[in-house]
Amino acid sequence: MAAEGLVKATAEYVKQQMLGESSGHDWWHVYRVWQMAIRIARETDGDMMVVELAALLHDIADWKFHDGNTEIGARVAREWLVSCDADHELVDRVCDIVGGVSFEGAGVRDNHPSLEAEIVQDADRLDAIGAIGIGRTFAFGGANGREMYNPKILPEFHDSFERYKQSASPTINHFYEKLLLLKDRMNTPCAKRIAEGRHRYMENFVEQFRREWDGDL
Ligand code: ADP
Ligand code: NI
Repeated sequence: MAAEGLVKATAEYVKQQMLGESSGHDWWHVYRVWQMAIRIARETDGDMMVVELAALLHDIADWKFHDGNTEIGARVAREWLVSCDADHELVDRVCDIVGGVSFEGAGVRDNHPSLEAEIVQDADRLDAIGAIGIGRTFAFGGANGREMYNPKILPEFHDSFERYKQSASPTINHFYEKLLLLKDRMNTPCAKRIAEGRHRYMENFVEQFRREWDGDL
């Protein structure tokens, strides 16, 4: 399939698979990550084809919805790309990214197999912070039956992916366990810049939440 046709067909495929998902991992999340990844790749000189395909496929089969299986995303992405007759090297480069983009806990180091992986990871993480990030986090909490906040349950520092995966803590804790850490874990200068404002907005949100909870406001 010609290069441009492959991106278009992949977007259509992913849209059909993910439309209407309600935990914050829906098609519109993928769409925003795709567009953000293009923006970062332009400024960073990443390989646009690899970036676009990996951004589109990055959440195609997330471990959270497949019993913690972290291999399945790359496998589903590979099946799709092979069915489109995509070039083998391209398939490998894209699937390496799809398999490695996730946040695995505050104390677990990210791996960066390529510039393109860093770009897609940044785009995904930018969508986890700011106003949209807050919205997605409460959507995820609701979809997964989590308490919004429970002052008796303190945030945890997860130093292994296993422990992070098993966590079922209240939604506000997720800000301390992941979201407020992301600003300092952006890879590209472009994403670091965009993260600043989104981070500040989230800090204000948790501060306001705390003050309302405590009856200060
Ligand atoms: P990544 O994109 O790094 O794999 P996830 O898929 O784990 O990240 O999370 C994507 C989004 O889903 C988070 O940014 C957050 O909005 C929501 N989310 C994931 N885990 C939790 C959680 N334990 N509590 C609340 N929201 C969560
Ligand atoms: Ni994502």
